[in-house]
Amino acid sequence: MKTLGVVGAQWGDEGKGKVVDVLAAQADVVARYSGGNNAGHTLVMDGKKIITHLVPSGCAYPGTACVLGAGMVIDVDVLQDEVAGIKEYGLLGGDELKVSLDAHLIMPYHRALDGLREDSRKGAAKIGTTRRGIGPCYEAKAARRGVKVRDLFYAETLRSRLEGNAAAVDAELLHLGAREGVDVDAIVKAAGAWARWLEPSVCDVGELLDDAITGGKRVLFEGAQGALLDVDHGTYPYVTSTTTTAGGISAGLGIGPTKIRSVWGITKAYTTRVGAGPFPTRAEEDAEKQIRIAGGEFGATTGRPRDCGWLDLPALRFAARVNGLTGLCVTKLDVLAMLPRVQVCRAYRDGVSPGRDGFSRAEPTYETLAGWGDPSLQAQLRVARSLAEIPATVREYLDLIEDDVGVPVTLLGVGPDRTETISLADPF
Ligand code: IMP
Repeated sequence: MKTLGVVGAQWGDEGKGKVVDVLAAQADVVARYSGGNNAGHTLVMDGKKIITHLVPSGCAYPGTACVLGAGMVIDVDVLQDEVAGIKEYGLLGGDELKVSLDAHLIMPYHRALDGLREDSRKGAAKIGTTRRGIGPCYEAKAARRGVKVRDLFYAETLRSRLEGNAAAVDAELLHLGAREGVDVDAIVKAAGAWARWLEPSVCDVGELLDDAITGGKRVLFEGAQGALLDVDHGTYPYVTSTTTTAGGISAGLGIGPTKIRSVWGITKAYTTRVGAGPFPTRAEEDAEKQIRIAGGEFGATTGRPRDCGWLDLPALRFAARVNGLTGLCVTKLDVLAMLPRVQVCRAYRDGVSPGRDGFSRAEPTYETLAGWGDPSLQAQLRVARSLAEIPATVREYLDLIEDDVGVPVTLLGVGPDRTETISLADPF
């Protein structure tokens, strides 16, 4: 079986887009299993940058199927724009795009609710969501009043579902200060165009993947966000609304867990977070600014400056456990190499443990690493294409991570371009 899951092992933004783009060169299918356009995956090819929010990062390879699974929530307007943008690069010209009939749709009122709720929250109650309607859409799904892709093809079902939802949604919208409630007619009209546009792409994704796996095809499962944003295992309530961890692959795609051969976790060489919630290893102001500028740490979806800090090994050990990681991809080593001083956290004070105690009381203890802060390190890293070419200081850091987390390092990111990658293991 040639399958691999690739998941974020921190709070998202670990560089999954680039890693999946690199690994997708060897894949026949790339499938996303959760989240929506709260994600932003950046691909850099020959200096050109494509940011995808919904389309899997396999889209750079003509002929590679790009699958959007049932566990995703889809804003069709956003998907249409994104696909049009990708097509300008001469990609997605065939029948690569596959959309699950069971994925849920983000409705205009989900977006409105997300923004208005976020505005109405005060202080610690603010989550800092991406305002894309993700939470309200998953909430409707769990409450059994959501709208699925398949509903678009049955106008009467769609209308009655929308009319059934309108009273409660209107009450909340108007209470939160919206000027208007749900416009059922406008949505039904838009839905006709969405259905026509989606029609060639919709399918039974579970069957498609099962056939591909059984037929010996190489299938990559692409995670979104990161382990610590997982609705069950993350820093609740400061999380997204989905299972971001590897457990979500099976549920979100409609395949059995026995079809997932291995799972690689992506971690930056340091840590970042956007939105509210605990972040134990957030750096002091000056160091944070240095990391943010060196790493260009601004959200790909919202443009918000990310909070930045040091690698948090207790959190990474936790992510390795909940995901059952079999490999670690360490990205942005070149950014760490630009910093005058590098710290790492191997333990929290007083034996605080993420799984037992959560993260809000975690106080990191730090080690300052020797050998970093050398201005030539970054240049050496950017041109390195094998482990042997990696400077000893950086190799020691990788050994430390591997020993501490107990998972082998399988891929390194030494610069933003897809060529600035060192592969240390066969993904399939
Ligand atoms: P939501 O997913 O828009 O509901 O946002 C919930 C939390 O998850 C917020 O803290 C967001 O900043 C965070 N979040 C959602 N998607 C991403 C992502 O792709 N990268 C990083 N953080 C994210």
